[in-house]
Amino acid sequence: MDDLKAKYLTQIADAADETSLEDIRIAAVGKKGEVALKMRELGKMTPEERQVAGPALNALKDEINSALAAKKAALADAALDERLRSEWLDVTLPTRTQRRGTIHPISQVTEEVTAIFAEMGFSVAEGPRIDTDWYNFDALNIPGHHPARAEMDTFYMHRAPGDNRPPHVLRTHTSPVQIRSMEATGAPTRIICPGGVYRADYDQTHTPMFHQVEGLAIDKDISMANLKWVLEEFVKSYFEVDGVDLRFRASHFPFTEPSAEVDIRCSWEGGTLKVGEGDDWLEILGSGMVHPKVLEAGGIDPNEWQGFAFGMGIDRIAMLKYGVPDLRAFFDSDLRWLRHYGFAALDVPTLHGGLSR
Ligand code: DAH
Repeated sequence: MDDLKAKYLTQIADAADETSLEDIRIAAVGKKGEVALKMRELGKMTPEERQVAGPALNALKDEINSALAAKKAALADAALDERLRSEWLDVTLPTRTQRRGTIHPISQVTEEVTAIFAEMGFSVAEGPRIDTDWYNFDALNIPGHHPARAEMDTFYMHRAPGDNRPPHVLRTHTSPVQIRSMEATGAPTRIICPGGVYRADYDQTHTPMFHQVEGLAIDKDISMANLKWVLEEFVKSYFEVDGVDLRFRASHFPFTEPSAEVDIRCSWEGGTLKVGEGDDWLEILGSGMVHPKVLEAGGIDPNEWQGFAFGMGIDRIAMLKYGVPDLRAFFDSDLRWLRHYGFAALDVPTLHGGLSR
């Protein structure tokens, strides 16, 4: 028994890792280990012998077990020490002297758009990117059978089998924020909501996630004339030109009546876009007078209030202003691209300080 004890305590002391420790445990005190075999021999002993050997074997087993536990804890401590040593980091080192990060064009344009509309009295509203199909569709006068649902290439969230509630969707546009903000503040209201939206689509001008900015103004006597002025002011400020021609083209959206798509006069001479001159037209947004059903869905009485709404692609107007040819590059996280198209972190866009300088 002394030999057994000496043998295993030495092995335990020498074990280099948890796997070899486990091998030793099985060989010594496992079900078929040496100590168990010895226990079986107790049956062949005389009662006198057994009275001595029994407790001694139990004591041996306990001693080996506690040696194993102690060694296991010691190995874990050593492993932690080793990790702390290797993962150590000198946080007092100086930062890199070369400026690496830049503001992404989408963040920049979002700030520019926000600065322009803030000047006109619009505040910023936000809504969830995962929304119910009621906010994304029904409340916007797009009922279940409406073809606009299919056109939107909607991403539907998974529901557990047997759960028959309508699924949540990744919002396909920022228009649901119109409803949420009407619910939150009632009328009158004047808001924009910039943010990410999702559609299952992918090519040079489409990515599954992109950005829109929604606008909504509701009051007693707001008309298409107000919409036209606000958009003209916006386009002039955004493209940093003195004058622009806007063209309102009759269109259809379920959530506005009447509806208009808005084009700006431009030229593509020499392959570069110039806004405000030339004979081409460029579509930049959808808009219209908020449909009475949409006001109702937002809890606002359409007999008392009216207003306009518009929706515009942020990535699209960023591509146009800053000459980015492929939308997909916005989402590649390529540092060289970011250094080329990015903006200095401290140049916050304001109307008085300059939007993009
Ligand atoms: N939600 C539309 C879209 O995603 C854009 C839009 C059009 C928004 C007209 C509006 C609007 O608020 O009045 O394509």
